[in-house]
Amino acid sequence: MFCDPSTDNKRRKQVYIKTYGCQMNEHDSERMYGLLLNSGFKQALREEDADLLLINSCSIREKAEQKAFSSLGRLKALKAKKPQLRIGFGGCIAQREGKKIIRRAPYVDLIFGTKNIHRLPLLVEKMYKMCKRQARVVEICHDDAVCPEQFRCPVERAGQFKGWVTIMQGCNNYCTYCVVPYVRGREWSRPPEDIEAEIRQMADQGYKEVTLLGQNVNSYGQAEGYEVNFPTLLRAIEKISGIERIRFTTSNPKDFSAELVEAIADSSKVCEHIHLPFQSGSDKILKSMNRKYTQSEYLKKVEILRNKIPGAALTSDVIVGFPGEKEEDFQQTLHLIEKVRFDGLFTFLYSIRPQTAAGNFSDQVPTNIKQERFEIMLQMQNEISSERNKALLGTRQEVLVEKVIAGKDKFGSNNKLRGRTRLNKIVEFIGPPELLGTLQEAEIIRANRFNLEGALISERD
Ligand code: 5AD
Ligand code: SF4
Repeated sequence: MFCDPSTDNKRRKQVYIKTYGCQMNEHDSERMYGLLLNSGFKQALREEDADLLLINSCSIREKAEQKAFSSLGRLKALKAKKPQLRIGFGGCIAQREGKKIIRRAPYVDLIFGTKNIHRLPLLVEKMYKMCKRQARVVEICHDDAVCPEQFRCPVERAGQFKGWVTIMQGCNNYCTYCVVPYVRGREWSRPPEDIEAEIRQMADQGYKEVTLLGQNVNSYGQAEGYEVNFPTLLRAIEKISGIERIRFTTSNPKDFSAELVEAIADSSKVCEHIHLPFQSGSDKILKSMNRKYTQSEYLKKVEILRNKIPGAALTSDVIVGFPGEKEEDFQQTLHLIEKVRFDGLFTFLYSIRPQTAAGNFSDQVPTNIKQERFEIMLQMQNEISSERNKALLGTRQEVLVEKVIAGKDKFGSNNKLRGRTRLNKIVEFIGPPELLGTLQEAEIIRANRFNLEGALISERD
C-alpha cells in the first residue's frame, strides 16, 4: 500500500495515465493500471482527481513527441497548485532520454523505461519514500534480454469484449526512418504457452476478440528459434474456445508469407483484415528506407492474399517526404495506392528521429513539398475509402457490438449500437442494449467514408 504523509492514509490514492502513441503503448498503460490497482491505487476518472499522474509517451514522429512534452509542461502549473501531486514519465521518450527529462521538467518525480513497467509498484513506492527528500526515481533498462515475467503482470483492460495481447516486442529491422529499435530494443517473442494462457484467461473473463501485438508479428519466434512460428501460433489460438475473433498488428511485408495467408484462410476466427504498411511505392526510396522489398514484391503479396481471401480488407501506413523523394518517387506511391485500393491508409509526413540513419541523409524534402504531396495522397485515398465502403452496401456483415451510443428510439425500446465488422469497419445500427458484447449480423444500408450504417438482421444468440 502506498502511504504519503501529505494525504489521508485511509483514502486510496488515485492514479491517472495519459497515453500517447500506438496500441502497444495503450496496452502498456493497461498493464501499468493493472499493476498499480493491484497494489492499492484507484483509477482516477479525471486527470484533476489524480494523486499520481503518469505520462506514457511516444516518440515515433516529431509531433507525437511534442504532444507528450507539452502535456508534461502543463503539469508544472498543476503541481504548483497541488504540491502533493506526483508525476511520472514513462514510455518511448523516457526510454531514450532517461534522466535528461529532469532538466526539462524538474518537477517530475519518476522516470521509467519501456522495459521497467513490471517494476512500477516498487518504483512508485520508492518515489513516495524519496519525495520526502525531494529526490527522483529514474529506472531505465537497456538490456536486450527480456524476461517473460515482464508480461506476466495484472492487466486492467480498457474494453470488456476485446483486448490486446503482446506476443512480441522490439524490432531488428532498422528501417532508416524509425526510432522503434532504439526505444523498444531488440526483437523478443513471448513464449507461446504464456500467450495462450493469457488468452485462455481472457476467454474465461468473457472476451470475444483478441488483437495480437508486436512490431513485426510475422517474425514471431524467429530470434528465439521457437518451434512455433506466427501461422502456427494463430492455429493454436484458434482452438481456444470462447474467443471468436483474432486480429494482429503489425506486419512487415518482407515477412508476410503465403503460409500466413493459408492460416488466415483456414481459420474461422482470424479476421480478414490485414494491416500491411508499405511506406513508399518507390523502389529507390524503399531501398533507402532499408525495407527489403520492392513495389512489385509488395503487389505480389497483395495478389496472393486477394486470390486466397477475395474480400479481405487491407490498410497500410505510408510516409511522404522521405529524404531524396522526388516527384517520380511520389508518383510511384500514388501508383501503388491506386493499384491496391486500400480500405484505409495512415498517412504521415516524414520527420527526423534521433539516432536514426535517415536523420543524417542530406537531401531532406522541404516542408511545403511534403505538405502538398500529403494533401494529394489524402484526397486520392479518401475517394478510394468511400468507394471501398460503398461496395459493401447491401451485404451482410458480422458485427461485434462494442458500445451503446445513443438512448432509446421513438418506440422507447431500442438504442443505437456501435461495433466493428470482421473487416474492421465501424458499423452503427439500431438494436437493444442487451446485444452489447455479442456477435450480430447486420445488413449495410449506408456507407460513409469512415463508417457504415446497418440494419440488424435478426438477433443471434
Ligand atoms: N516520420 C514519419 N512517419 C514515421 N513512421 C515511423 N517513423 C516515422 C518518421 N520518422 C510511421 C510509419 C510507421 C508508422 C507507425 O509511423 O509509417 O509504420
Ligand atoms: Fe510510439 Fe513506436 Fe513507442 Fe509505439 S513503439 S509508442 S509508435 S515510439
